[in-house]
Amino acid sequence: MLDSTEDPADRYVDVTATRIAYDDVAERYTELVRHQLAGQPLDRAMLAVFAELVADNGSGPIADLGCGPGRITAHLATLGARVFGIDLSPRMIALARAEYPHLSFDQGSLEQLPIGDGELGGIVAWYSLIHIPPARVPQVLGEFSRVLADKGHLLLAFQTADASDAVEAFDHKVTRAYRWAPKKLARLLTDAGFTMITRMVREPRPDERFGQAYLLAAKVR
Ligand SMILES: C[S@@+](CC[C@H](N)C(=O)[O-])C[C@H]1O[C@@H](n2cnc3c(N)ncnc32)[C@H](O)[C@@H]1O
Repeated sequence: MLDSTEDPADRYVDVTATRIAYDDVAERYTELVRHQLAGQPLDRAMLAVFAELVADNGSGPIADLGCGPGRITAHLATLGARVFGIDLSPRMIALARAEYPHLSFDQGSLEQLPIGDGELGGIVAWYSLIHIPPARVPQVLGEFSRVLADKGHLLLAFQTADASDAVEAFDHKVTRAYRWAPKKLARLLTDAGFTMITRMVREPRPDERFGQAYLLAAKVR
């Protein structure tokens, strides 16, 4: 569903720009992040908690939305999760399929998921929601809620904003992106019908410019 104040042509241009930008950098991005998770125990801890909660609930597979080259999809699979990936960029999907032929990856948009109502036990959006213009984020969270089963879990990772209740555009190296104050995004999750479970903020490592945030929520009414 579109924001009634938004010109659909603007959204088309914006989404196309993101797709082309990630197609262009797909190989380099894949190499850059290939071994990153191995040095990030806090990231792995959040993914492990998420995978365990989804498994306990037993309500359906996990979709890794904005999966890029599939490293998070593959990591969750090693934890025993039933998981597949979706990404806007056909080049990213091709690389993910080549690297992890035992897993399923398809092209698709966060804003109009090729997934039926209530089919998923979990959603992870790991640094992908950052590319959605803030005015459209509530609609995307509504789309996440649509495809999640009751009690399904959602895990978001993103760069933190400097101000305590802000969303700020930043000079992401690939394409337009936004940093969020965790409490601002958490409020949107609550507005979309999610119940917050936990939030973690970690300090930037030497190779990072910003703090990193992780929000874990569930679709519990
Ligand atoms: C920073 S990368 C993160 C990739 C992956 N989650 C990871 O951590 O390695 C952002 C990814 O989100 C995808 N993306 C951005 N906007 C999207 C959208 N509207 N729908 C689906 N994927 C999107 C991009 O194509 C890109 O692969």
